[in-house]
Amino acid sequence: MAKALVLKDITKRFPLVLANDHISLDLNWGEVLALVGENGAGKSTLMKIVYGLQPPDKGEMWVDGKPYRPKSPLDAIAHGIGMVHQHFMLVEPFTVLENLVLGLEPGSPLYLDLDEARKRATALMEELGFQVPLDERIENLPVGLQQRVEILKALYRQAKILILDEPTAVLTPQEAEELFRFLRAYVSKGNAAIFISHKLKEVLSVSDRVTVIRDGRVVGTVKTPETSLEELARMMVGREVVLRVEKGPAKPGEVVLEVEGLEAPPRLRGVSFFVRAGEIVGIAGVEGNGQTELVEALAGLRKYRGTVRYLGHPLPHLALKVREAGVSHIPEDRLARGLVLDFSVRENAILGDQHRPPFRGFLGFLDGKAMEHHARTLVETFDVRPRSTDLSARRFSGGNQQKIVVGRELLRGPRLLIAAQPTRGVDVGAIEFIHQRLVEARDQGLAVLLVSADLSEVISLSDRILVMYEGRIVGELTPEEAKEERLGLLMAGVPA
Ligand SMILES: Nc1ncnc2c1ncn2[C@@H]1O[C@H](COP(=O)(O)OP(=O)(O)OP(=O)(O)O)[C@@H](O)[C@H]1O
Ligand SMILES: [Mg+2]
Repeated sequence: MAKALVLKDITKRFPLVLANDHISLDLNWGEVLALVGENGAGKSTLMKIVYGLQPPDKGEMWVDGKPYRPKSPLDAIAHGIGMVHQHFMLVEPFTVLENLVLGLEPGSPLYLDLDEARKRATALMEELGFQVPLDERIENLPVGLQQRVEILKALYRQAKILILDEPTAVLTPQEAEELFRFLRAYVSKGNAAIFISHKLKEVLSVSDRVTVIRDGRVVGTVKTPETSLEELARMMVGREVVLRVEKGPAKPGEVVLEVEGLEAPPRLRGVSFFVRAGEIVGIAGVEGNGQTELVEALAGLRKYRGTVRYLGHPLPHLALKVREAGVSHIPEDRLARGLVLDFSVRENAILGDQHRPPFRGFLGFLDGKAMEHHARTLVETFDVRPRSTDLSARRFSGGNQQKIVVGRELLRGPRLLIAAQPTRGVDVGAIEFIHQRLVEARDQGLAVLLVSADLSEVISLSDRILVMYEGRIVGELTPEEAKEERLGLLMAGVPA
């Protein structure tokens, strides 16, 4: 039988990097092939080539044994290839149903298709075993559901080969489980899938084989039962990776943040806690239990009721003032809040501090030299690749964009860091690195409030763990007490 997809010598050069360097790989019908590699290794670039979003400089492809040279995603779709992107591509003000039909039949007015579309979509959802509210607008859906819409959209177009670029970065563990069940069922019907993820545990559990890419080249392909987390990490990074955080006990000092009866609609229903200098307090919880509201309220981005004291004084209600007071914030959504994508690294590196010295120079103009120096320090200290300060943020891979945000927030020397999903979309090597920087900053007296959907991150990084459920804190645990099972139960609302 012909292979689902064969790539041979795919090569793609961007001005600063050789993103794909003679990549060859194949995908069998009936299998999930995982694609792993460090941030910037070239995974998304390769998949965009397969999906017809950009042409390769060189190389050949075959789909089901036939030569394949897509000129656009329409070609890819016509060949039975669907893609769920790293960053969602849905049209927000439109409904789910409209998004399904959108762009499918050029020239045919939207309203004509909707009834038929509803029938097909309903049948498809039944077959897949998941539901999405068809008449809801995309902007009103939580990310987990948005992602189902992306999958539904690809399958609606009868994709036989499904490409998923970091589909689980924004999913809760439960949602991820559901996705994996779907993927296994999908390939067992004879389809094929390519799955990109930095979560190596998931990779091992869902895929049949794993192809590892480093610096644009294939390092090797391994069968999942025959490999391990450690081996994959080593192949990706090219050295041993410490998968555990190495840190000594915290030596907490004065109370930096004190929160009392904090409420913020729609989901934060009253929380009280404190964070001291020199400690990392982790908030564990299934996403959507008020964490977003909590973080945004503290960062001055959302209205709230209740008392928030910072170093003994009321914390201002305004984002810029909060920053000025020495509070840093790593936002959960780096694209919406963390970066201005069309700005260069140099500009992004001072975002929020542009009005202050040393960046605001003579006569109030921005001081180019100071900015360049700062940006250079950031890309070097935080291993941003490529090491460019000119490149716009848009041109960096997802994980490198995240490093730019984390670097900026740490380098400004805050007293308090509110870190929401600080390693989302970041590769294992970079996670190790970011964790070490956070622990180092803690040891120098930084107070850290960590919000993460990644349980193992919360457990390994935090000195104290608060569990949030339905807008309240339902328990406090030490990391030793927080075995994943106990924590999982608390997170699901089961009292300890
Ligand atoms: N349009 C572009 N212009 C210039 N450089 C680009 C462009 N798109 C990607 N690159 C560069 O190509 C390299 C590969 O990027 P790619 O997005 O494929 O990485 P990735 O493996 O998907 O990483 P991540 O895990 O962080 O998502 C990176 O160095 C990136 O900066
Ligand atoms: Mg990518």
